[in-house]
Amino acid sequence: MDHEADVFYRELPKVELHAHLNGSVSFQTIEKLLKRKPHLNIEHSMTAIGKGQRRTLDECFQVFKVIHQLVDTEEDILMVAIDVIKEFAADGVKYLELRSTPRAEKKTGLTKKGYIETVIKAIQQCKNEGVDIDVRFLVAIDRRNGTEVAMETVELAEEFMLSSHGVVVGLDLSGDPTVGHGRDLLPALQRAKNCGLKLSLHLSEVQSQLEETDLLLNLPPDRIGHGTFMHPEVGGSQSVVDKVIKNNIPLELCLTSNVKGQTVLNYSKHHFKYWYQLGHPSVICTDDKGVFCTDLSQEYQLAASTFGLSREAVWTLSQQAIDCIFAPEAVKQQLRQKWTELHSQLFK
Ligand code: IMP
Ligand code: ZN
Repeated sequence: MDHEADVFYRELPKVELHAHLNGSVSFQTIEKLLKRKPHLNIEHSMTAIGKGQRRTLDECFQVFKVIHQLVDTEEDILMVAIDVIKEFAADGVKYLELRSTPRAEKKTGLTKKGYIETVIKAIQQCKNEGVDIDVRFLVAIDRRNGTEVAMETVELAEEFMLSSHGVVVGLDLSGDPTVGHGRDLLPALQRAKNCGLKLSLHLSEVQSQLEETDLLLNLPPDRIGHGTFMHPEVGGSQSVVDKVIKNNIPLELCLTSNVKGQTVLNYSKHHFKYWYQLGHPSVICTDDKGVFCTDLSQEYQLAASTFGLSREAVWTLSQQAIDCIFAPEAVKQQLRQKWTELHSQLFK
C-alpha cells in the first residue's frame, strides 16, 4: 500500500461496492502465489502499480493477465478470496460486493462453475469464522468475450442466484472498455435483468462511448461503474446525465484507479466532484485495491482531502452507500443499525 489512512478513516464503517477479486489481491497474497508458482518467473513489479506510478489502461489490463496466470486453480481462488475478504474486513468494510469473471483453465481442470462455487465457499468460510463483514457476489462478464459467453455467464449467474441463498445478487459488465460494443451484449443484460439479477455496468470509462452508454442506460442498470466521461464538462452529454439522474442510478467512483489508469488527469479533476455537487448517489470504491496499491480507507481520505469534506460529510457519504447495495431491504436495515451504533464511538 502507498501509505496508511488516518485512524478516523480506518475506523469509519464502510461499504465497498466495486471490487474485482483478482485486482484486489494484496502484496502478501501475491507473495504466497509467487512461492506456489516459481516457474512462472513473475515478479512483484508486474502485479501492482505503486505510488506515483501510472499506466495506460492497456497496460493495466496486462497486469490482470499476469495475475490470472498466478490464480488458476480452485485452491488459489479459495486462498485469494478469503485473504481479500479478511483484508476488507480489517479495513473497516462491513458490507462488500465482490465481483469476478468466472474462468475455465484446461490445464488445471478449473471450470467456470467450479470458479463460482469456490468464491461462494470462501464467503461461507469467512462467515463461519465470524469475520465481521457481509459479503455478496456479482458474476462478471468480460466484454472482450462477446455475445455467446455473455449469455452463458448470465445463465450461470441465474443458476447461482437461485441456489446460493442470497450470496449471488447480480451481474457486472467489465473488461477492457476499448474492446467490443455493448450493443452485442444487450440481450444477455436484458435477460439478467428480467430474471432478477441486479446490474452494475462499467460505462463511459473512456471517451467516445456515449452512444454505447446511452443505449445501455435504457435497460436501465442498477448502478454504474466509473461513468468517467458522461457529463458535458468532459465531452459527455446533458441527456445522458439527465437519464442517470431521472433513474437515480448510483455511481461507483474509484479515484486512485482512474488517476493511475490515466483516464482522469489528477485527483482534483475527478468526476466525483461533479456528481457529488449535484447531490447524486456517489459511492467511493477501490476497483482493484491490490493492483492500485490502495484500500477503501485511503480512498475516503483522498476524497475528503481533495474535495474538502468534513468528517460529518464523510460519515454521510459512507452511510448513504447502504442505500445502493444489491442485497435486500432487511440487510440495509441491519447495516443502518450498525452505523447508528458506531457513530457515537467514532465521534466521541
Ligand atoms: P477478475 O474478474 O476477478 O479476474 O478481476 C480482474 C478483471 O476485472 C479484469 O480482467 C477486468 O476484466 C476487470 N477489471 C478490473 N478493473 C477494471 C477496470 O477498471 N475496468 C474494466 N474492467 C476492469
Ligand atoms: Zn472496475
